[in-house]
Amino acid sequence: MCNPKNTIIEKVKINDDGNLDMIDAHTLKVLNQAGKILRNGGIVAIPTETVYGLAGNALDANSSLKIYAAKGRPSDNPLIVHISNINQVSHLVDSIPKNAKVLMENFWPGPLTIIFNKSEIVPYETTGKLETVAIRFPVNDVAQKIIDFAGVPLAAPSANISGKPSPTRAEHVKEDLFGRIDMLIDGGECKIGIESTIIDITGDKPYILRPGEITIEDIKKFLPDAEIDPAILVKPIENIVAKAPGMKYRHYAPNVPLTIVESANLNTDFIIVSEYICNTIVNSYSKLSGIGIIASEQTKKVYIDKFGLNKYVGKNEDSLEKYSNEDNSIIVMIQGDLKKPSTIAANLFSILRAFNHENVGRIYAEGIDKKLLGVSIRNRLDKAAGYDIIKI
Ligand code: TXA
Ligand code: MG
Repeated sequence: MCNPKNTIIEKVKINDDGNLDMIDAHTLKVLNQAGKILRNGGIVAIPTETVYGLAGNALDANSSLKIYAAKGRPSDNPLIVHISNINQVSHLVDSIPKNAKVLMENFWPGPLTIIFNKSEIVPYETTGKLETVAIRFPVNDVAQKIIDFAGVPLAAPSANISGKPSPTRAEHVKEDLFGRIDMLIDGGECKIGIESTIIDITGDKPYILRPGEITIEDIKKFLPDAEIDPAILVKPIENIVAKAPGMKYRHYAPNVPLTIVESANLNTDFIIVSEYICNTIVNSYSKLSGIGIIASEQTKKVYIDKFGLNKYVGKNEDSLEKYSNEDNSIIVMIQGDLKKPSTIAANLFSILRAFNHENVGRIYAEGIDKKLLGVSIRNRLDKAAGYDIIKI
């Protein structure tokens, strides 16, 4: 571990959208302080619209090394460089291909990371020794202001200990990184909840290396020949290696085993899945060790009725909807509305972390359909489960 640090935690004043309406005196002081720490080579956890990032000066090799050390991250796993102004791109890349221009015009600022060939000023410590650099222009106001106040582009991976779910609340960052980083800026809950879509435009065809809120369908509207890297849709096998180095590591793992239950047609069979979990799984596990279930708005009634569950606050401070039985041996958390997958994306990592605070020996999750945003959600959930999937 790196030397223990005195982590400064400060809140900024945001509105319901997670943005800054007006910068009050305290927020201004916090932004100045963060900017100064970053310019001096320190590392600061910052909110973005996707997940919290652990930021350092992207042009300073030492800052990047500090980020790897704080996260316990393998150093061949490159960092994303965050900018707050489109003019910053030309300094960081050797050229801006036509495909990239189209993406920048249509999706920036926003949750899309674009891979370019890097310029000389970007150190190999930031790119995990690659000749390419990943660049993202976040839309979140607080993130943009911190980059502005730092005056340098910021390398920022998700602000979690390597292998754990990405943080969507300041509390999650504190849990993982307190004492390992210089500062944490609390800007409320991240709206999207899963990390940015990554697209590589350096080859003959645009390739999505990681799916996010921006889907392959969204990209194809502008770049019809774009494809999704086949390696990210399936369980990793030896002869298919994901092109984003980070996708090969175990990710998002909760403290206890997680199993996904899915049926052939998840669009219509979701009640069958919840009944299977109730009738076949719960009885054998809940008495042994306590069981956690990840259900949806549409299926929660099945569990509530069958086990006589009541609303449950839980041991973790968050805004999740939870239910439990009297001795808390069955705990059900609601991932969101199947008709609005964005609600599920927003809660997923929070749920995985919330179960770490509960006394359950296993978690079962209802699998959602792998369509549109469902592709991105299942990419995270399948990894969290280590691809342990029951098909009924
Ligand atoms: O939404 C996000 O992208 C968040 C927030 C903080 O912006 N950041 C994030 O970073 O998720 P991280 O480090 O957790 O994930 C970055 C991913 C990794 O899988 C890494 O391997 C890949 O991006 N990546 C970075 N640079 C790359 C490059 N030059 N070529 C291929 N993959 C790259
Ligand atoms: Mg990450």
